[in-house]
Amino acid sequence: MFLLKSPFLIQGKGYSMKKKQISNKKPIVILGAGGHSRVLYDCLELLKRNVLDVCEDDHDILKNYKPQKVELVMGIGSVRDTDLRRAIYLKFKNKGYDFATVIHPLASIGSKVQMGEGVQVMAGAIIQIGSRVGDNVLINTNSVLDHDCEIGDHSHVAPGATISGGVKIGAESHIGTGASIIQGIRLGSRCLVGAGSAVVKNFPDGSILLGCPAKNCKKSQVG
Ligand SMILES: CC(C)(COP(=O)(O)OP(=O)(O)OC[C@H]1O[C@@H](n2cnc3c(N)ncnc32)[C@H](O)[C@@H]1OP(=O)(O)O)[C@@H](O)C(=O)NCCC(=O)NCCS
Repeated sequence: MFLLKSPFLIQGKGYSMKKKQISNKKPIVILGAGGHSRVLYDCLELLKRNVLDVCEDDHDILKNYKPQKVELVMGIGSVRDTDLRRAIYLKFKNKGYDFATVIHPLASIGSKVQMGEGVQVMAGAIIQIGSRVGDNVLINTNSVLDHDCEIGDHSHVAPGATISGGVKIGAESHIGTGASIIQGIRLGSRCLVGAGSAVVKNFPDGSILLGCPAKNCKKSQVG
């Protein structure tokens, strides 16, 4: 697997991905041309991956690239909800494309970590032993996922967020920049944890969690 060749990657022994992700030989097209896309481009260059194209909003360019010939990379980030990342991922999965998993050489992945398709782990991020990360999840710069956590599909753990051991977070959630979640917490799907907020108890689907300790706010309280 190409990542093991990196002199920088701190790599656990039992780290597993879906089989088709392990080839990682196809050239890449990045979907999205904003800030996150630029971070990924940089990372893919470090990984010596061949980036053929970067698509802006108009995905017509993909007509030039058959699904069997390329892998896609989700270049769209999120700042509060993950709807766009999810919609674009599912649209192109339905057209037969695969999404590459991108792990920065300076990320640290522990043993027995399971990762879905199209997971991205950016520079300085740490995923500890026994964690499970769903499809199309973004573990962003310098964030921490401690041991035995579960993060549902399409979720985004933003830069500097710290998730302690044994936490389970449902699909399509956004954990804001610098947020903290204490050990063993359960969050439902489509939760938003505000930047810098501290989650110290369980919350259901669709919660908007702000402050320290975080309280569940109504949609009307945030813009
Ligand atoms: C929660 C969030 C989405 C709200 O954004 P918004 O809808 O624009 O809300 P506003 O800035 O208008 O704030 C609405 C209220 O919520 C409060 N608030 C907003 N974000 C907050 C936060 N993170 N923690 C505590 N309170 C917060 C504001 O102080 C304001 O309160 P007030 O009405 O008493 O003055 C946003 O502040 C946030 O934290 N986004 C996450 C950003 C992120 O993770 N980026 C990652 C980029 S890679």
